[in-house]
Order: sequence, then structure tokens, then C-alpha cells
Amino acid sequence: MDITFLGHSAYLLTQGEHRVLIDPFLSGNEKAPKATGLRADDIQPTHIALTHGHDDHIGDTVAIAKRTGATVYGAFELCEYLGEKGLTKLESGNPGGQIKTDFGFIAFTQAFHSSSTGGRYMGQPTGLIVRMGDTTVYHAGDTALFSDMALIGEVYRPDVAILPIGDRYTMGPELAGRAAEMIKPAKFAIPCHFNTWPPIAVDAARFAPKGVEVKVLEPGEKASA
Ligand code: NI
Ligand code: MN
Repeated sequence: MDITFLGHSAYLLTQGEHRVLIDPFLSGNEKAPKATGLRADDIQPTHIALTHGHDDHIGDTVAIAKRTGATVYGAFELCEYLGEKGLTKLESGNPGGQIKTDFGFIAFTQAFHSSSTGGRYMGQPTGLIVRMGDTTVYHAGDTALFSDMALIGEVYRPDVAILPIGDRYTMGPELAGRAAEMIKPAKFAIPCHFNTWPPIAVDAARFAPKGVEVKVLEPGEKASA
């Protein structure tokens, strides 16, 4: 699997012909990659998965899904909202649930955060488990630290953990380090949700879990798992 960081919390996971786009906040993000094929108007996902309904996560979902026909996965109320925006290929769920796909599955985990847009409730915020073939990624979404991250690690045995480190709205780097130590990803951890704006500016070097390799990706950069 190739994991391409698209800035903020957005990632493109690719394996064979399958391309899963997570939290595509691209056109409103000055730090999103400008490269052809990674921009909001030309990226080509087969699936889109959302952690929650804040605008820095829904991002360009509606436009990209309409252009590509990609199926969108998200919380029940978030999918209801996207349906009102004209999307028809929607797969809704809630924490604890798993949805089979042609590449494996997408599952929702709990996250400690909020989820709304324009004052409207968007359902529970979630983390995502994406299993493509033999490779499993845990994208924690926007969340606080919680001890059941150890259980998520045991149950899903992720190869890669993607964790927010920007503080203020999510874990900061030290708490995210504790999270990575509990999750114990088999391959590496990737920090996200930092340095997009001044309120979440942090030094990624402070994210230093013991016994877990860290890969800090620049927007547009790719890691193989
Ligand atoms: Ni959020
Ligand atoms: Mn956010």
C-alpha cells in the first residue's frame, strides 16, 4: 500500500486499482499539494472515507464524489447531510461497525471530539480502520487520548497509525506519543493535524513514541506500508 499525505488530515491510500481518499480538505488548504493528480479537481479516488463532519475534514468531498462517482463512507448523520448535497453512493456506519469493500473493509472506531457543520449535528466523530489486502491503517481522526486505543491496536493490529498531534482541538505530540505506544502499529506512525494554521503549530520532533517508528510526511510525500 502507498500512503500519500495530502496535508492536514487528508491521505490517499492506494493498492492496485483501489484508491481510498480520507478527509479530503484540499481546496481550502494552502498547504495541500499542488501536484497534478493530487489536487481537488483532478484526484481520482475510488472510495472516500470521512472521520467526522467538521469542514476541515469534509473539505472537497461533495465535488470529488460527484466528479468521480466514488462511494463515501462516514457516520450516519454525516451521510444524511451528504445525501442532501446530492451524493447517492453513501455507506454510513457508527463506531464499532465494519463495512466490507472490494479491497477489504472500512471500520469505524470511537473518537473523543465533536462533529458539526454550520451548527448542525453530524453524528459521532470517528476514527477509521482501512484494511486493503493484508495492510491495515488506523486513522484516529480528531481525538483525545483514550486508553481503549490499546484495544483498537489489539483487535485490528494496524500496520500504520495516523495520529493528530496539533494540540488544542486534538491530542498534542506527547499525548499522541502515548497513543502510539498503546496502539503499537507494526510498521510506523504518521503525525497529522498540525502546522496547518498557527493555533495547531507544533514541532513534530516532540512526537516521539518509544518503540514505534515515526514517519513525518510533507504534503505530497508518500510512504509504503
Ligand atoms: Ni474536527
Ligand atoms: Mn479537524
